[in-house]
Amino acid sequence: MLMKCFIFGMFTFLITGAQCQVTEVFAEAGSTAVLPCKSEHPSSAEPTIVWSKANKGTVWRKQRNGLEYCGSSWVVNGTKRVQCPHPQFDRGEYNLHVKDVREDDGGVYICRIENQDQVVMLRVIAVSFSPAVPLLLDTFSVNCDVTPWPNGASVRWILNDSAFVPRTGVISNGDTSERIVKERATEQLIGKWTCVVGHRGKMVQASAALSLRGIVQPSSDNTKLYAAVGSLVTLPCVLSHDLAPLRADWEKMEPGSLFDALPLPSYSYSPLTSKHSWDRSINLRQVAFKDEGKYRCHVVVEDRWLKRYMQLVVAKIDTSVSSKKKDSITLSCQLSDTSEVTNYEWVHVTYDINGTQSVVSIHKGKTLTISQVSEDNWGEWTCRFSNKDGILGNVTYHGQMMSGLRGQKSAGIQQNTGTIIGLSVLLLVLLLVLAQMYKNHQRRKRIFQYPALETIVHTISNEREQRERCQVKM
Ligand SMILES: *[C@@H]1O[C@H](CO)[C@@H](O)[C@H](O)[C@H]1NC(C)=O
Ligand SMILES: *[C@@H]1O[C@H](CO)[C@@H](O)[C@H](O)[C@H]1NC(C)=O
Repeated sequence: MLMKCFIFGMFTFLITGAQCQVTEVFAEAGSTAVLPCKSEHPSSAEPTIVWSKANKGTVWRKQRNGLEYCGSSWVVNGTKRVQCPHPQFDRGEYNLHVKDVREDDGGVYICRIENQDQVVMLRVIAVSFSPAVPLLLDTFSVNCDVTPWPNGASVRWILNDSAFVPRTGVISNGDTSERIVKERATEQLIGKWTCVVGHRGKMVQASAALSLRGIVQPSSDNTKLYAAVGSLVTLPCVLSHDLAPLRADWEKMEPGSLFDALPLPSYSYSPLTSKHSWDRSINLRQVAFKDEGKYRCHVVVEDRWLKRYMQLVVAKIDTSVSSKKKDSITLSCQLSDTSEVTNYEWVHVTYDINGTQSVVSIHKGKTLTISQVSEDNWGEWTCRFSNKDGILGNVTYHGQMMSGLRGQKSAGIQQNTGTIIGLSVLLLVLLLVLAQMYKNHQRRKRIFQYPALETIVHTISNEREQRERCQVKM
């Protein structure tokens, strides 16, 4: 094309004495390209302007009488993709604006003003992925296309704002316009890919965002999930919607081990009641403090095992009664992992008769001491924990319920005391009755003893009388 232009230039040079100067314009696919054209002799009279593309005919034309014409291939759904904005005409500028540039727009354009030609080379730069959305762990390629490719251009890559050096090296296919990076699809490669092309001291760039098919939620490994003791927590494992895993397993990692995992017993969780096969999240009901730790969702997709690790952090409130002030209770917010937490805040949640909730922030810090007797302290005490990005979770101490329970308990004790006293009295009465009965028994025994004694006495006296009588007879 350049050669053609050169020959064409030579030709026009020979005829008109004009020089062929090629202006290079780079434009990112999808943006608006501005192709410059300036009249060297701006005249008051409106000239005829013709923009044409090599091999594609007229793009845009404006006649001396003001009539405009747009090539049919440049009209999409009734709107023109090309135009020469009018305000620039009086400055002698007839720049062509091409909206939503496509790769096949790249090439040579000629702007003719009153038989004087200006040549513009439009190069369209684009980043594309192949396949467009690769499956996690698949091999895929990132292409940096410049159409037409400028000879001697250099390419470098930026991934998410930092330089990316391809492990496989840049594959250069000779004169083809593709510059390709081949990689294995991992989460680290998700994000914005920018290709920077250097050409004749100029830097131009284009970007595209890469996403992967696989486990999309949680989007990265070792995401922390926060749950309060006793609550229900969802461990997410959501796949791209076009994937239907054959199998999905949930495991809990052995503490301190990177690879050893135990399958979660089926009774300990319930799958989400989701109609979709791509949602393999589960619910853990009534989380206990010992449930904290690392979990793994393991799915089989297209002959491939995909894994996602996540960490469950469990929060609880420890209570202690201070030794000095018996009425006060100290609440302490405890998390199984505090590495992300930077702030603790205690809020007091109360409900009025209508059940309307009101939340008042009371105290910043990990522990809180409240008086148990004060009715003002009834309601719920919630510890909210957060990091710089916002609230991570909360755990609640039910003050009113505890007070209520304590009330019931003391009433219970009173009842018990009453019963004990009653029983004691009964026992005492019983004892008294028994004692009385014993006494009566003893007395009766004594009464029975007397006749015996009388008999003995009687016998003795009878004997004595008889002896006396005998003595008298003698
Ligand atoms: C509760 O609701 C009733 C009627 O809906 C209203 O009149 C009353 O003011 C409410 N009380 C409070 C404390 O919000
Ligand atoms: C505690 O967390 C739950 C669930 O995220 C939320 O609905 C509730 O409003 C939070 N409570 C407070 C007091 O922040």
